Amino acid sequence: MPSQKGLYNSKKIYNDYAQRNYLEKPEIAILDELFCQLAGMDMLDMGVGGGRTTSYFAPIIKSYIGADYASQMVKVCREKFKDKYKFIESDVRSMNEFEDNSFDFVLFSFNGIDSFDHQDRLKALKEIRRVLKNNGYFCFSSHNLNWKNLHNLFSFKLNDYNNKNMYGIKNPIKRQTYLFKTKYRAFRLALLNKSFKRTDLIARLREKDYARIYDNSLNGKAKIYYISYHEQLRQLKRAGFMEIFSYSRNGLKTTDEEELNNGGWIYYLCKADKKV
Ligand SMILES: C[S@@+](CC[C@H](N)C(=O)[O-])C[C@H]1O[C@@H](n2cnc3c(N)ncnc32)[C@H](O)[C@@H]1O
Repeated sequence: MPSQKGLYNSKKIYNDYAQRNYLEKPEIAILDELFCQLAGMDMLDMGVGGGRTTSYFAPIIKSYIGADYASQMVKVCREKFKDKYKFIESDVRSMNEFEDNSFDFVLFSFNGIDSFDHQDRLKALKEIRRVLKNNGYFCFSSHNLNWKNLHNLFSFKLNDYNNKNMYGIKNPIKRQTYLFKTKYRAFRLALLNKSFKRTDLIARLREKDYARIYDNSLNGKAKIYYISYHEQLRQLKRAGFMEIFSYSRNGLKTTDEEELNNGGWIYYLCKADKKV
């Protein structure tokens, strides 16, 4: 299988990200929350992808750098924003180009932090803390291991989304092809995750604090890190972050786990602790 970097550098994927120009509901809530401070902040938009978040932050922030380890993502951002903002190649796990205490705000959106394994995730958190100034903000989202609909990922039955898509297709042959492809994808994920027994797989995953699994991200071609809410809080505290707030997928700022577990992603906003 291709490397994750190779996948992000592939045309289908970078073009898909380049077309995205919206904010997720929790991102709107976080933008609102930080709004009054943004004009005084130096921001690093790490894992910027196709620049989905750029037009919301770059025009109102003191200084903006969009960074990504995938050169094609950096290229599409430069083309999209016509050199209006700065975009560079950088790997979050070792940001040698940035000195300590360089930024007031680091954003790593859309689960970019779930791209790598456990050790690299801890390395990334440490690096982000290093480049942040004391009390600087870090915002990111991550896949939720306790998502109540996690089993849907591994279901051979069509979920609501697939059902709606399928019945939207008028041509019966195309509809059958869609059905076949959807079932094939589920079969492939079961094979990759080494489990055809969905309940066993979910039970196994739920015993853990984190796990790397194949889901539908990156067309099911890469393992994605899923983490429980409590383990994420622990990792952040250990890496030198404090005042950690969480947001549900529908934009609610909450610590209520039932609410958070309604969504497959949890958003986090925290501050760099000066004690580290
Ligand atoms: C899921 S995409 C999100 C893109 C964009 N932030 C958005 O919200 O649309 C994750 C991005 O993180 C980048 N990424 C993954 N691992 C990275 C790393 N180690 N260093 C820097 N960027 C990385 C990928 O190349 C990709 O562009």
